[in-house]
Amino acid sequence: MPLPVPQSIIQRAIQELKIKDFSKATIREVVAIAGKIERETGLEFIHMEMGVPGLPPSPVGVEAEIAALRKGVASIYPVIDGLPELKQEASRFIKAFIDLDIAPEGCVPVVGSMQGTFTSFLVAGQCDAQRDTILFIDPGFPVQKQQAVVLGYRYESFDVYDFRGERLKEKLESYLAKGNIACIIYSNPNNPAWFCLNEQELQIIGDLATRYDAIVLEDLAYFAMDFRKDLGTPFQPPYQASVGKYTDNYLLLISGSKAFSYAGQRIGIVAMSDALYQRSYPGLTERYGGGTFGSVFIHRALYAISSGTAHSAQCALAAMFKAASDGDFPFLKEVKEYGRRARRLKAIFLKHGFEIVYDRDLDEAIADGFYFTVRYPGLSGGELMAALIPLGISAISLATTGSHQEGLRACTSFIKEHQYDLLDERLAAFVVHL
Ligand SMILES: Cc1ncc(COP(=O)(O)O)c(C=O)c1O
Repeated sequence: MPLPVPQSIIQRAIQELKIKDFSKATIREVVAIAGKIERETGLEFIHMEMGVPGLPPSPVGVEAEIAALRKGVASIYPVIDGLPELKQEASRFIKAFIDLDIAPEGCVPVVGSMQGTFTSFLVAGQCDAQRDTILFIDPGFPVQKQQAVVLGYRYESFDVYDFRGERLKEKLESYLAKGNIACIIYSNPNNPAWFCLNEQELQIIGDLATRYDAIVLEDLAYFAMDFRKDLGTPFQPPYQASVGKYTDNYLLLISGSKAFSYAGQRIGIVAMSDALYQRSYPGLTERYGGGTFGSVFIHRALYAISSGTAHSAQCALAAMFKAASDGDFPFLKEVKEYGRRARRLKAIFLKHGFEIVYDRDLDEAIADGFYFTVRYPGLSGGELMAALIPLGISAISLATTGSHQEGLRACTSFIKEHQYDLLDERLAAFVVHL
């Protein structure tokens, strides 16, 4: 197939998929367009749009799950709070790798972090009638805003690009001081930009969350994947940074999907601080007739949504947490592959005149990991996406992530060994066709 793919083929794909504004296409839409063009033309795409783990699942989890299924757990409803061994191991894992003390009671399995954020938004938004708004520290994971829309909640957001370090304080306070913020959410490392908020920034978030009584949802979907540091030795520093060091008003979302390549089984943990778990809120008392944040979360919200999390997947996560905390399962070793891929891919983009958009954590270059962001001088994110598609390169525009920067998010997870040369050739062609 000679490149570029003719515009007529691309336009037909866009029309058939009824995409109104291609520059704002969602991840699923970009996947659909790339797939359609691939089928029609036989062109191999370099897929960088989807954040799907590209590594095999952890055998520790798979074996534990098979054993559990063989024992017959499939016929038995799991306890809604979570299997005791999983709660215990989750609490121990958090101590081992974050150095935080959270009682097993507050560690609750969920059907992926997606269910974790949905339920957390739901309950946080019911605590106090005055606090009806979710604050996103953007850029972020677009589907979480979709969750807010599904729930009918208001949200506000800001792009943290210009507000790193000390500058975060004033910006964050300008939202919290209004008194309507129920909860604050961010991911660390960040999807899509892979920056990592540092201790100073987490302290600012924690202090302000306490002062203005907002609940922090710390999304650790890419747990310990800041590969600049060795975060993989249990019970030894350095640890995964967390807002939990600076406030009691927090819950953590720990996903099995990326760190353990276990996305298909939809399993993760919401870990609430002991103080948050035990706290009563007027809005919850009025709606449910009593209960604490933790008990309402589990016995009202989760019960109503899914009545727990698949039994065997809980056994898998318990086994993975245990092996990791015992020091028998160096879970970060496998996923470091994403960092190696990012390093190679970034070098190719830079060689062809691209720039990394979110390139620094204050005085430090950002880590190499699951995602990175690129721009090309003079092109908007939408224009760049549209220019790369005919060359068989797919990525999503930063505009869909709440970023105010022009550029693309590239995901390293689907890259195959032979595609580095392919990318090099195609980006050379991109510069020629520009
Ligand atoms: C920031 C972030 N949060 C949550 C998730 C979803 O995690 P899970 O698969 O556990 O639902 C993702 C997945 O891409 C993510 O990037």
